[in-house]
Amino acid sequence: MTAPTTPSAARPTPTILGVGAALPAQLITNAQLVARLDTSDEWIVRRTGIRERRHLEAAESLAALTATACAGALDDAGHQAAEVDHLIIATITPDRLTPGLAPAVAARLGAEHAGVVDINAACAGFLYGLDQAAALIESGRARHVLVCGAEALSRITDHEDRATAVLFGDGAGAVLVGPGAPGRGIGAFEFGYDDGLADTLYAERDVRRLQMAGQQVYRHAVARMTEATQQVLARNGVSVAEVDYFVAHQANARIVSAVADALGVPHEKVSFNVEWTANTSAASIPLALAAAERDGLLAPGSLVGMVAFGAGFVWAAGLASWKDTVTQPQRST
Ligand code: UT7
Repeated sequence: MTAPTTPSAARPTPTILGVGAALPAQLITNAQLVARLDTSDEWIVRRTGIRERRHLEAAESLAALTATACAGALDDAGHQAAEVDHLIIATITPDRLTPGLAPAVAARLGAEHAGVVDINAACAGFLYGLDQAAALIESGRARHVLVCGAEALSRITDHEDRATAVLFGDGAGAVLVGPGAPGRGIGAFEFGYDDGLADTLYAERDVRRLQMAGQQVYRHAVARMTEATQQVLARNGVSVAEVDYFVAHQANARIVSAVADALGVPHEKVSFNVEWTANTSAASIPLALAAAERDGLLAPGSLVGMVAFGAGFVWAAGLASWKDTVTQPQRST
């Protein structure tokens, strides 16, 4: 079998072309949790930075929420569902054990020609999907790939356990990846795993409730995300100062803060979206990207650093230039 070859001179530069996000309507504030658990708003905010999270209602599907996020990304990019060659959804909480989310989401979108697949790399899943999308486009095997992170963590949370009940939320975020202006595009990624610590963060198949040794996970999250970011910057020949905006997996504002401080990144260049979403695992990075775009923190050509860490342990870090397309206005500086 011969792989399709594209002369390197003609190789497309994979770029994020559009972003979309969707949160469930049901809002769960800290005050609501305080009313039924032995916790306080002060503890939750001081230890995690979280003020509110969203939960799907029992009758709502994650597929519908995810389709809204994907439609938003297509709209933002000015592309049609029929142009999507692949839909990659990172999730650990599909509506059913099988089939995965991707076929139902593609059908809702009308992405009739798309290859559809779910991937599971816990909180790092979105970055795995983004790397795979970049490779598909670079190699000429695909032209447009929707990459999505979608979670309904409320469905695998022990709502009576104050140590975890306050931490998790539901949501979906998506980006459309396609050919962009020659230049940085989506750079090389770094990945890592440590199976020796799998028992510090997991949910079993029969007892579907997230269990976490919080402090241990915390320490490793800070160390691995700092190292992975340093490695990915070195691999791409980029300095910390050259990165316009950093999005780390939104598990805890203190973790994000510690990673930024270790890297020497000023906090105004860092996403703290966890405040409004809580920890949404694979959805956290695209949700944070959508929030940054909404808040005017990203411009065409902005260089975005992303890093994630989660159950496995698995981690990933990557760099992407934001909506750097030939049709977009270029930055004046
Ligand atoms: O997404 C995948 C990656 N996940 C993460 O990166 C999460 C990593 N871990 C964390 O973010 C933090 O460890 C937590 C937010 C989970 C916990 O914060 P902590 O500062 O590490 O607290 P702790 O677990 O050491 O608990 C401190 C105290 C304990 O009481 P004692 O033993 O000191 O009396 C807990 O029982 O806080 C207590 N506690 C709470 N108190 C009020 C735990 N949960 C709560 C709560 N409200 N909700």
